[in-house]
Amino acid sequence: MKKSLLFLSLLLLVLGCAENVKKKEDSITGRAWWKEGIIYQIYPRSFKDSDGDGIGDLKGVIEKLDYIESLGVNMVWMNPIYSSPNADNGYDISDYRGIMEDFGDMDDFDRMLKGLHDRGIKFVMDVVVNHSSDEHEWFRQSRSSRDNPFRDYYHWWPAEKGKPPYRYSLFDPKGDAWKYDSVTDAYYLHYFAQKQPDLNWENPKVRQEVYDIMKFWAEKGVDGFRLDAFQYASKDTTWPELPEGFEKNVIKYYGMQPNLHKYLKEMNEQVLSKYNVFAVSEGAGSTFEDAHSLVDADRKELQMAYHFEGMDVGNSLEGYKLSEFKEVYTKWDSAFAKKGWLSIFLANHDVPRMVSKFGNDSTAFRAVSSKMLNTFILSMRGTPYVYYGDELGMTNIGFDSISQYRDIAAINSYEKALSEGEDMEAFMANLKFSSRDNGRTPMQWDTTAHAGFTTGDPWLPVNENYIKVNVALERKDPNSCLNYFREMVNLRKNNPVFVYGDYHLLLPDHQQLYAYTRSLGELQVLVVMNFSEKPATAILPLGDNPEVLINNYPDVDRAASTVQMKPYQALIFNIED
Ligand code: GLC
Repeated sequence: MKKSLLFLSLLLLVLGCAENVKKKEDSITGRAWWKEGIIYQIYPRSFKDSDGDGIGDLKGVIEKLDYIESLGVNMVWMNPIYSSPNADNGYDISDYRGIMEDFGDMDDFDRMLKGLHDRGIKFVMDVVVNHSSDEHEWFRQSRSSRDNPFRDYYHWWPAEKGKPPYRYSLFDPKGDAWKYDSVTDAYYLHYFAQKQPDLNWENPKVRQEVYDIMKFWAEKGVDGFRLDAFQYASKDTTWPELPEGFEKNVIKYYGMQPNLHKYLKEMNEQVLSKYNVFAVSEGAGSTFEDAHSLVDADRKELQMAYHFEGMDVGNSLEGYKLSEFKEVYTKWDSAFAKKGWLSIFLANHDVPRMVSKFGNDSTAFRAVSSKMLNTFILSMRGTPYVYYGDELGMTNIGFDSISQYRDIAAINSYEKALSEGEDMEAFMANLKFSSRDNGRTPMQWDTTAHAGFTTGDPWLPVNENYIKVNVALERKDPNSCLNYFREMVNLRKNNPVFVYGDYHLLLPDHQQLYAYTRSLGELQVLVVMNFSEKPATAILPLGDNPEVLINNYPDVDRAASTVQMKPYQALIFNIED
């Protein structure tokens, strides 16, 4: 590695890291530990089952702490682990201070948290407070009578006023967000499933409950919060009629309602500012201004945003255009170049596997295209989120029959499509590609039964490719996705140019290649990736003496500034003079 890159990197690391772990954000340099982190997302149901009931659990995560550490990541975000009847796999919480029985108990949680902290890994908790479960005590009380003290914890519409103004529900089989409840002859609101009634954030008591819950977990030592579906929390409770077809743009009509900022400021004052924690909200409104308004440091609301535009690329079977992909990431990067901070991710528990969506999951290209996509995530500005299994190159499972699906979103949308007379063949083909279950199959540990995930019957089948794609084999193979991932993590962690460096797009019109530079002071790196299965020629400003920092192929075919890029090849050069 060139001397100045090495020297500056080490200096920044030594000076910065010690300070950054203590402080939330340095007001002069803008540096912060949560910007320098690499987040590994664990879907606890599918990570590791310790007791043979077919469901992953916290003891299972504890068994795998050394593995998580070996990845080099320094933060873990886990999907909800609270008590829940599991209508939406934990996103329907019945006790915010309890652990779901399937997952273990509070002792397990404490041990897991300590085990992570002992390894220098921070923990991010999922906070689901746009809605609760209908089995939460608050809702039981609320629905029991119109004058119950908990009545206003939720949104109710008395039936004598007629039918409430139409609201679309994302998970309802009829798409109707108002559910009639005969106990009090009234409708309650649920933007998601019927078992996920929306909490009434306009009620100060609800807000106080939530802040107290967050304090409870912050006191336990969690380091961050991911606020689920939070952009929908504030609602216009005069319930105006919404224009026809509004459901095609739910974020515009449900997101960022005026009181949201008031609530976030209050949350910041009461919770976030009191602890060394950060918070990220799922969703960032419809515009850059919306996103900035959530995270600019001087507003004292949240620290990090994640937008959905990147996720919306490539959602249909037709695939996506690289030009669109480049445009989305480039424009979001420039909008946040000076202020605010973003997350960078290509997958999570709500979308298909990244290699099946953005790469190529055929035998020939699965590994190399997975490595390329991880190169992208780990070389962009923003905090990278890596979804469990993507370090191995895990792929979509692709179910054919509706009986194989477990996800409420898949099952209810199937019912809706059927009742509306949709073309079911096309519907099933699309579901096979886009379903959330694709990304939720059990972690592939080894070649034993059920990939070593469980000794019982897994709650969701293991992908058959586990025989080839698993930790045990990849650990031993120096050219595996897993070992490449670790190398890429190290590169990022040791070179702040990847975290803080300016981003500049090259070859904007190239149909196969995505190339950019990142620069920080004198440091300059150039990233080039071939997003296609065909070779491509890249003419790049490589300077006189480019040094290859990482390559997902054994060699580089370069003559001066011309590089012959192999299918899905990813290269990073140090190009400082
Ligand atoms: C978020 C979660 C998703 C969940 C929904 C309802 O979008 O990521 O998994 O189903 O909120 O809580």
